[in-house]
Amino acid sequence: MHIPKVDVLFGGQYGSEGKGVIAAAMASDYDVHVRVGAPNAGHSFIGPDRKLWKMQTVPVGWCNPQALLIIGRGGLIAPELLRREVEAIADVDPSIYGRLYIDAKCGVLDERFHQQEGGVNGEMHARIGSTGEGVGPAREARISRDPERFRLYRDLADEDVWFAQFEAVDTPRVINTARQSGGKILLEGAQGQGLSLIHGPWPYCTSTDPGPAQLAADVGVPVTALGRIIACMRTYPIRVAGNSGPLNNEIDFNVLSEKLGRPVLEHTTVTGKVRRIAEWDMELAKTCCMLHGPNEIALTFLDYVNPDDEGVDDWTKLSEQSQNYVRHIEDKLRVPITFVGTGGPKLRVLKRYQP
Ligand code: GTP
Ligand code: MG
Repeated sequence: MHIPKVDVLFGGQYGSEGKGVIAAAMASDYDVHVRVGAPNAGHSFIGPDRKLWKMQTVPVGWCNPQALLIIGRGGLIAPELLRREVEAIADVDPSIYGRLYIDAKCGVLDERFHQQEGGVNGEMHARIGSTGEGVGPAREARISRDPERFRLYRDLADEDVWFAQFEAVDTPRVINTARQSGGKILLEGAQGQGLSLIHGPWPYCTSTDPGPAQLAADVGVPVTALGRIIACMRTYPIRVAGNSGPLNNEIDFNVLSEKLGRPVLEHTTVTGKVRRIAEWDMELAKTCCMLHGPNEIALTFLDYVNPDDEGVDDWTKLSEQSQNYVRHIEDKLRVPITFVGTGGPKLRVLKRYQP
């Protein structure tokens, strides 16, 4: 029997590339969705109830009612946030309780880590534009190997019956077993590779490497098992508000609004502040390809290239300008652009061609 490879979706720039809408567009093709990373990222998409959802913990793939959902091993869960997300999903789809699994070794992002970092009022936000959610201190605590400082999901499930209702699993084994019976798996990464602790503009970076190899390692998938490696990129990359580090070709939303002939302004999903925005940076995209070798790109925000393309639902109906823009990037990076996003109220994503 053919054993499917594991596919991975990751951020190709500084986060907020639209991984949420792409994961939603791919959701029905997968049997198992695994969220990797921490809740310092939020994945927006339009849910089955046609409303806008922002997922910080549960994989966007919950919108496929048949899919198994895993919060993966290397990740962190903020208990109250997880509870709120699950209860909100349950109003739309009560089956969530039976199909959400959490890795026994997923870490717990206790409130005290958040307090330690202080959110957007804290020193880390002022100094490097961190969301201040406490993810960095939690990872430091994990490294301390001190159970007084850091807990795993299995400890939380032992203490609290609400959390105990989700089976504590061994993600590598679940993924491996699913593959052996032909199951298709999508790893949903968070943030963007330009924020890497190792390769990014340290210290203006995050506390891990958001690239596909690290995502796979975090959930115990061997690199030889990876199939489609999809980098999500925006036509206009952003960074979070504040003193968040280098951003080539930076502009401001007034310039973009003038170009588009309508007001545009974006706020960060987690901190709610106005994002920083820039024109397309080919060097950043090339670096992403060099470091991570994506074999596909999902390019969102074509509606920022030409406002007439907002919400367009068919490749052939896109303006010549946007079509050429996509082909130009594809030529330069030598990676096929398999999805494009055109935004609009439905946050439209077009599958350009099947790889
Ligand atoms: P992070 O892991 O937090 O980086 O998440 P993400 O990559 O899923 O991105 P996030 O949802 O934080 O930000 C993307 C934003 O862009 C959201 O507000 C989406 O609603 C919006 N969006 C996604 N695709 C498009 C698009 O093609 N056009 C427009 N105009 N907006 C889009
Ligand atoms: Mg986000």
